[in-house]
Amino acid sequence: MARPLVADIDLDALRHNYRLARELAPASQAVAVIKADAYGHGAVACARALEALPADSRPPAFAVACLEEAESLRRGGVKAPIVLLEGIFEASELERVDALGLWMAVHSEWQVAALLAYRPTRPIPVWLKVDSGMHRLGFSPEEAVTVWQRLAVASECAAALHLMSHFATADALDGQYFHQQMSRLRALAEHLGAPLCLANSPATLARPEAHGAWVRPGVMLYGSDPLEAPSEASRRLRPVMTLRSRIIAVQELAAGEPVGYAGRWRAPRPSRIGVVACGYGDGYDRHAVDGTPVLVAGQRVSLAGKVSMDMLTVDITELPEAGTGTEVVLWGNASNGEVLSVDEVARYCGAISYTLLTGVLPRVPRRYHERS
Ligand SMILES: Cc1ncc(COP(=O)(O)O)c(C=O)c1O
Repeated sequence: MARPLVADIDLDALRHNYRLARELAPASQAVAVIKADAYGHGAVACARALEALPADSRPPAFAVACLEEAESLRRGGVKAPIVLLEGIFEASELERVDALGLWMAVHSEWQVAALLAYRPTRPIPVWLKVDSGMHRLGFSPEEAVTVWQRLAVASECAAALHLMSHFATADALDGQYFHQQMSRLRALAEHLGAPLCLANSPATLARPEAHGAWVRPGVMLYGSDPLEAPSEASRRLRPVMTLRSRIIAVQELAAGEPVGYAGRWRAPRPSRIGVVACGYGDGYDRHAVDGTPVLVAGQRVSLAGKVSMDMLTVDITELPEAGTGTEVVLWGNASNGEVLSVDEVARYCGAISYTLLTGVLPRVPRRYHERS
């Protein structure tokens, strides 16, 4: 038998989540963010699954972080426009942007200069990035006015100008900083008459006032709920990845016996420990504490002991029927219908779903499933 660890990817759930994003922002176009290999799910497979939706409901564009990611999508046969969310990293990339029909964010003066000096075969659609308060990338609202005007007159280089910005706190219950960012953007957009692309997943789910011409959902497409407090809409998300394995050995321990490195967990009573084929060498977070939930035969049990490179250990004392070969779900859907969300697991790791999902390493085979 092959090593049993796999990442099962449910492409129907991906389509369901994308449809939900569209339903929540019906007046916006929804670009599907599939950077970082579609948050660890496989960008080509995910893009192709979304492109297979009916013409009136498929993503009009995909978004990635860099040219290399866009090239890999084009090699994989993806035809739709692809936006580079950070634009180019050096001027020489413009030739490939042009050849591959990509769109690009522009966040720095050197990118503007490079674009204006370049003669593309067709004007390149540009999303001008404004720093409305995230303080990561983008022009200040004041600078953005002049850059917008320079790009607008250079219609032989730049086309379909949009204003783009990113929220620092759209997920938080306290909307104060979000509203501050929003009011700066609204003023700028009104001044320029510019279409907006602002909303990440939390804003798509919970901030309708941020739904501009475009929304830009990422993590919600994969079924993770980014909101500080789940909403009616976010509860409709379906997990796309199930990280699934099996018990490969069982240890019967006397009370007081330690388990794993440093003996972090000690049996409080005579205990049965299931050894699971999954470790930090697969991307499972080694910061997971004792008590982190794991589904064994679809029932919640607790991680017991430090995560090793290739294995982890769970307390199955309460599950006498579990043994070697029993199904284990680290997150996602168990065969009996139980669900363990990656968001919950992330909380036990002091992490976020984004790092857990993007952290699943290439050693773990992705297995794709779809009914429709
Ligand atoms: C510029 C930009 N837009 C959109 C997204 C998607 O965000 P989320 O995954 O929270 O929906 C990201 C994610 O990092 C981003 O950096």
